[in-house]
Amino acid sequence: MRKKVDFLVIGSGIAGLSFALKVAKHGKVCIVTKDKAEETATKYAQGGIAAVMYSPDTYEKHISDTMIAGDDLSDEKIVRLTITESTERVKELIEWGTLFDKTESGKYSLGREGGHSESRVLHHKDSTGAEIIRALLHKVKEHTNIEILENHFTIDLLTQHHLGMGVSRGMSDIQCYGAYVLSPIKGEVITILSKVTLLATGGAGNVYSTTTNPPIASGDGTAMAYRAKATIENMEFVQFHPTSLYNPNEKPSFLITEALRGFGAVLKTRKEEEFMEKYDQRKSLAPRDIVARAIDTEMKLSGHDYLCLDATHLDKNQLIENFPRIYAKCLSVGIDITKDMIPVVPAAHYQCGGVKVDEYGRSTVNNLYASGECASTGLHGANRLASNSLLESAVFSHRAAKDAIDKIKAIEFFDRIPDWDAEGLILNEEMILITQTMRELQSIMSNYVGIVRSDLRLKRALDRLEIIFRETEDLYQKSIISTHICELRNLINVAYLIIKMAQLRKESRGLHFSIDHPEKAPIKMNSRR
Ligand code: FAD
Ligand code: SIN
Repeated sequence: MRKKVDFLVIGSGIAGLSFALKVAKHGKVCIVTKDKAEETATKYAQGGIAAVMYSPDTYEKHISDTMIAGDDLSDEKIVRLTITESTERVKELIEWGTLFDKTESGKYSLGREGGHSESRVLHHKDSTGAEIIRALLHKVKEHTNIEILENHFTIDLLTQHHLGMGVSRGMSDIQCYGAYVLSPIKGEVITILSKVTLLATGGAGNVYSTTTNPPIASGDGTAMAYRAKATIENMEFVQFHPTSLYNPNEKPSFLITEALRGFGAVLKTRKEEEFMEKYDQRKSLAPRDIVARAIDTEMKLSGHDYLCLDATHLDKNQLIENFPRIYAKCLSVGIDITKDMIPVVPAAHYQCGGVKVDEYGRSTVNNLYASGECASTGLHGANRLASNSLLESAVFSHRAAKDAIDKIKAIEFFDRIPDWDAEGLILNEEMILITQTMRELQSIMSNYVGIVRSDLRLKRALDRLEIIFRETEDLYQKSIISTHICELRNLINVAYLIIKMAQLRKESRGLHFSIDHPEKAPIKMNSRR
């Protein structure tokens, strides 16, 4: 089957939906999403969206906090434009129907999170992402120019490569013509031709054993773009959230929002002793890289499987009122957060790097844009400031939409791409080959490429990865295509990029810490571009 759309949007989180709403007046839009439309990382966002709303906050303060968190690797021009557009993008989310909490005076209630010098996080209790998705999906479903293909898995982007032409990374004339999309229910691969394609596929937390990310986060967009020879950057900067609920058999790990620390909860050892002052004067509200490493160190020193977050000294009614989801979740596993300390461990949470894009979300492949967690805009540098990612998605989807609308009239469909060839392939009936390899991959990454790294650990990880890479490629080449094999292959690809980029970084900076290179190297001017 073949299909033609003006705008192909891969992903239905905040990045995909907000882009779709903007371009829909200018042509037919098809959103492809591999699960139900609402099943996204966006839906699970708790803390909220950072934006400058009222004095005493200023753009300069938010810019400075973002630059400090990014550990000198953020692109100041990008930080500046993202933060100065924050108020406008938040107002737009509100116009689209998102309900953020207000105080009794009618102003928006602003939460505080690690690394922020002011309270500036707009939220909807502790379910901000679910509220944003509700509002955006409602708008999208009303729009007659937008079609959503749920449970459709994008396999690969279409480029000249599919005409048998050589394409190599760094070439300036690679074109994106759309994507091959698997409709798992029918088992058919659809060739979707598009004038413009947006990758909004989210992150890759599932490359680790413990993650806050939903199962959809398997790095598909980053891997697809890499295969299409787009430039990928900063993959070594994987953000571990310091506080996920310690509940070993639960996947994904349930997040205990940083906003709870902003509200007054304090990190403690299991002996109820505070420890963060040893690591940073901002204590429990230091940036995430510092807090996650401190917890990791304390766990290694004590041999304990978890540490604790103490909210028992806070006003009980306000605690339940502001964090109803966390209260209910903890209660369901026997923890009353008004009386008991919450057991917490760090978990893989956010991919700071990804598909390199410019200030209009343009990747290095023509007519291919990226926004949201799969994109590397230069905002986060070596470490993302809390609640800056929903903001980044809204800002870059807006900018990408603007650029794509300006260009689309001059772009023609490219019809010569052949349909997917499944001849000679056989059905892989041994799921164990995929599930066991996935466990091996996650174990390699968690044990050797986690919060603290070393040259030897990275080498060992790469050696082990090569074996499962070869086995999986072999299986992929022979098998009838399935979502499971594609996700495994994509995660192996992402793991490779994380390890290789970590090996190249001979220093410790932001989220990348190596015991062999504990110092920071001098920053080269304009190191990103
Ligand atoms: P997502 O929302 O993850 O959407 C990805 C979409 O791509 C999905 O629809 C998925 O089905 C689709 N997709 C992926 N691969 C394919 C494929 N091969 N084919 C078809 N479709 C595909 N950030 C903040 O700023 N504030 C917060 O408070 C916050 N809290 C968080 C809490 C949790 C538990 C988590 C996990 C993350 C949190 N983050 C937060 C991070 C933030 O939620 C994400 O970075 C952001 O939502 C990513 O949005 P996105 O649109 O890029 O991707
Ligand atoms: C949280 O609520 O702690 C997550 C915020 C984020 O990841 O930005």
